[in-house]
Amino acid sequence: YLAEIDANDTEKGLYPHYMLKEIDEQPSVMRKIISTYTAENGSVAIDEHLVEKIAKSDRIYVVACGTSWHAGLVGKKMIEELANIPVEVHLASEIGYDMPLLSERPFFIFISQSGETADSRQVLVKVNELNLPSLTITNVKGSTLSREAENTLLLHAGPEIAVASTKAYTSQIAVMLYLAKAIGDYKNLKLAKSFDIAHELGLVASAMDTLVSEKDKLAEISRDYLLTTRNAFYIGRGLDYAVSLEGALKLKEISYIQTEGFAAGELKHGTIALIEKDTPVLAIITGEDTASHTRGNVKEVESRGAKTMVIAMEGLQKEGDQIIIPELHALLTPLATVVPLQLISYFACLQRDLDVDKPRNLAKSVTVE
Ligand code: AGP
Repeated sequence: YLAEIDANDTEKGLYPHYMLKEIDEQPSVMRKIISTYTAENGSVAIDEHLVEKIAKSDRIYVVACGTSWHAGLVGKKMIEELANIPVEVHLASEIGYDMPLLSERPFFIFISQSGETADSRQVLVKVNELNLPSLTITNVKGSTLSREAENTLLLHAGPEIAVASTKAYTSQIAVMLYLAKAIGDYKNLKLAKSFDIAHELGLVASAMDTLVSEKDKLAEISRDYLLTTRNAFYIGRGLDYAVSLEGALKLKEISYIQTEGFAAGELKHGTIALIEKDTPVLAIITGEDTASHTRGNVKEVESRGAKTMVIAMEGLQKEGDQIIIPELHALLTPLATVVPLQLISYFACLQRDLDVDKPRNLAKSVTVE
């Protein structure tokens, strides 16, 4: 179907489901973000005053829900690495009750595909009452969270119709990467200055092209591992753990399989008791420094009967790994590892004859608290 894609059109075209179209759109949306946020001279095209304001903050609070919260977990790492500012990532429904006022110069970043999520809007009302600076990163121009925040950065991902968010997740991460690079450049930090963002994200777009073309293999994996199971685990460390959370949410919300995204190193502190014969456990391995530990966790669950699957990045893969991710910059691997997880969820849903775009009990935008 790839030839039919227009990220801005709200029709499915040749696609059977919006979710599949939106997964396939990710490489072109990535390239759109690169062209939108990269200035002629290769610097970042984000308003200087916004960059300056965040650069002068002493703590960034990221506030979001669901998939957007998962994107925030990845954005945290990027901002802390490139901009050297501590970041806290909070669930909107949790932070609303006890606003953190521990820092002198806090800055609030709201991440929301729809820009209408009530839980997030409640927090922004409080941030505005406290007269604190804010930015909304959203896919919808003119949305409430955009209008009520001091600043807005758009995803330019085109309408996301499927309830299960896919291209918004990868776009949110890419936009936070641009913001992190802009702040690091402003502060003249070495790592940011040397980070060739357009080149690195270009490699991500190519990796996505490769991964979205592996649908047959991923449909097979989904059938083999998930067709009859009631539960599943995704495990990883660091950014691979953050992606495990997103992969688990994808699988839960459209195939209704009870799935946990779990820190690989934490399993032995209790949760491993749930592993029994044929429990599907998918491990994500992209970190040089964590690969051997996570491989150890895979062995641990295998010895308890788990049916394991490994997504590994080129250079770290071993014989028998099911999915290989093209080599990418350490900060950017989530943009690629999430793609097979999105497709596995899509096929698991289809193979259970469920509604891909409109899963039960869910709304695309949760505008009630
Ligand atoms: C993700 O697949 C879900 N549809 C849901 O978790 C969503 O990410 C969450 O409700 C936040 O929505 P928002 O990004 O529009 O604020």
